Amino acid sequence: MEDLSLHILDIAENSINAGATKIEIMLNEDINQNILTLKIKDNGKGMDKETIEKVLDPFYTTKNVRRIGLGLPMLAQAAKEAEGNIDIKSKKGKGTTIIAKFVHNHIDRKPFGNMTETIINLIGSRGLDIDIIYQHCKNENCFIFDSIEIKKELQDIPINNPGVLSFLKKEIEKGLKEIR
Ligand SMILES: Nc1ncnc2c1ncn2[C@@H]1O[C@H](COP(=O)(O)OP(=O)(O)O)[C@@H](O)[C@H]1O
Ligand SMILES: [Mg+2]
Repeated sequence: MEDLSLHILDIAENSINAGATKIEIMLNEDINQNILTLKIKDNGKGMDKETIEKVLDPFYTTKNVRRIGLGLPMLAQAAKEAEGNIDIKSKKGKGTTIIAKFVHNHIDRKPFGNMTETIINLIGSRGLDIDIIYQHCKNENCFIFDSIEIKKELQDIPINNPGVLSFLKKEIEKGLKEIR
């Protein structure tokens, strides 16, 4: 995976599989401290201690298909390559928070990629039943996308309506440009 946006989509997929109804994606660029923090928080079914200990093992998966579980080990590897680390906080029945840290200007720190596409993709496919909150901060400048707020404004129009999606796409692109 070349971009962080693809890792994020993959980690959000775990939240969806865990039955989450709300996924919060936070990117924080602290330029002074030279640290990039990615936080993905969900209210899905969570994991017990035993599972948390196993998830960074690339051969661990609870999926019924014979596929190697790689989402979390690959994110951990990406963080490690940029002299960072990964932290998994989870409580059975409560939810999961994944925190990955990277040295911001590290030569091997993966680029953000297309975050707009990742968010629009999630909204388009699961936006009706799952709320997505995306916050991206660069120093003290933040852009916040909150599907709960948007749904209130849309009233009866579904958030995955193609016209709504193309409007939201432009809004996210504009918002991200403003904090850059
Ligand atoms: N957000 C989450 N909530 C609950 N369980 C999770 C979450 N993320 C990961 N897991 C557990 O960790 C396992 C490994 O995840 P991952 O590395 O992405 O591989 P895969 O999704 O292919 O199984 C999952 O099968 C699941 O049991
Ligand atoms: Mg996965």
